[in-house]
Amino acid sequence: MLRSVGLLGWAVLAAASEMRSDDFPNYDQGTIPAWKDLASLRGAHPDAQVMSKAEYHRQLKSLDIPRLYRQIAALMTSSRPYWPADGPQDGDVPSYAGLFVRLAWHCSGSFRLINDTHAAGGCEGARQRHWPENEWRDNTNLDKARGLLAEVKLQFADVSWSDLMTFAGTAAIKLSGGPAKKFCFGRMDDVNGDRSIPLGVEGVTQCRGSKFCKSDAECPNAFRWPEQNDTDHVRCNIEQPKHRLQASHSVGLIYVYPEGPELKSTADGYHSNLVHNRSPKLSALEVRDTFRDRMGWTDRETVALIGGGHTLGRTHGNCNLTGTKWAQAPYNNVGPYFEATPGSLRGPTDGTCGTGAEAGRGKNTVSSGFEGPWTRSPSRWNYDFFEALLSEEWVPAKSPYGADQWHTRNETSKFARTMRLTSDVSLVADKIYRPIVEEYAADYAQFDADFADAWFKLVHRSEDHPHKDDLEKDAGVCTSFEFATLLP
Ligand code: HEM
Repeated sequence: MLRSVGLLGWAVLAAASEMRSDDFPNYDQGTIPAWKDLASLRGAHPDAQVMSKAEYHRQLKSLDIPRLYRQIAALMTSSRPYWPADGPQDGDVPSYAGLFVRLAWHCSGSFRLINDTHAAGGCEGARQRHWPENEWRDNTNLDKARGLLAEVKLQFADVSWSDLMTFAGTAAIKLSGGPAKKFCFGRMDDVNGDRSIPLGVEGVTQCRGSKFCKSDAECPNAFRWPEQNDTDHVRCNIEQPKHRLQASHSVGLIYVYPEGPELKSTADGYHSNLVHNRSPKLSALEVRDTFRDRMGWTDRETVALIGGGHTLGRTHGNCNLTGTKWAQAPYNNVGPYFEATPGSLRGPTDGTCGTGAEAGRGKNTVSSGFEGPWTRSPSRWNYDFFEALLSEEWVPAKSPYGADQWHTRNETSKFARTMRLTSDVSLVADKIYRPIVEEYAADYAQFDADFADAWFKLVHRSEDHPHKDDLEKDAGVCTSFEFATLLP
């Protein structure tokens, strides 16, 4: 039977590998209280799962799934002072839905399907807790999401982190009124991040003396688009030396540059009077290269996933760093700002942005540097994403942090407080994606059904279970959320 809280079946691993760097030992325990409690339960390495797969799957049979769901519901809607929930700054109720969905997506989005034959990554293993994934810059502030979930982990100690993170994201969609259909448990956790190394190494702060402690962020095999400005980031090719499975266009991103390529001044469509010249058309090619060629998604699944993901939650970049210590070296390059390590120079969460209790938190959070929600009700499932993409004219804009994004030209539009990334706008600039956007804007039921199917596939495929049904066949513990309630 699955215990609510207990030590049996879990153990501290005596021989820590040289690659090992769990989330836990680096946390500022005062900042994220539940980690402290996990520590006292578990000892030095509280999150290592050493139960055999057979034993874990056997114990899952008695998991109280409705109770787990209710715990996540209670957590999701109750803002914690150490990391305040979003919602109020956009006129909505407080909710961690966006944060939990992004957690599950970034954990699962490392999945690569190469030539339909070789699978790597995925959330199973929960290696996002370990180096190198916890130093990928795209995972900024997801330590806070894991810190919040530690409260649930305390109650369901034997549920693996990878099951917990993917279930929390799926429950968040359901609780917000979204279309999650089914979820299966049974993922095993890895004790270190070794299996993520082929996906790319970026920061090396937590890599303790291993021969792999060399950043390959520079990406030896790279390209720029002919129309792209020479000062803009190069993109990593899928083929890399030493058979590395290049995770994305940049190692620290799970997938693709959100801001898209900047046009050079001689390129068609360049306008010197705009605040940026990011190209939605080129961005669409990058989205397809990443989602289809590296991750194995169809164009339709790609549009459904991006539109659904960017229905909940928001981007975070509400702080101008000019004149602060972060202005010189962009904080994205100073690590490990994303782990709440005391004295780690962890970036704007140190209080540089904002004042008082919310300094660096809540409405003053800087994660990606983009700023704003995609929809008018980011805590509740809605259909603004595609409608506004089509009905509004989106014009280049800057976030307070200085990131290149898009706002509505019509400043009095009902969507005027929402934003788009270049990769979002790319979906209407591309002749293959656009008809899918039009279909989803007109047919909500079709969008919901396609998103639910794609989401199921997203959180169930991994290196160890590369097909979407593998986990169900292996563990046989699934729920269709018959008991589900919605956000109050
Ligand atoms: C082209 C692909 C994508 C790009 C470039 C992209 C980029 C981003 C960026 C820059 C943020 C802001 C992070 C922050 O500042 O907090 C974000 C947030 C988010 N993304 Fe995506 N994303 C993509 C696809 C997806 C997909 C497929 C999903 C899920 C199915 C998803 C779900 C989310 C959610 C829920 C948030 C809000 C997080 C929060 O509220 O804290 N994204 N994304």
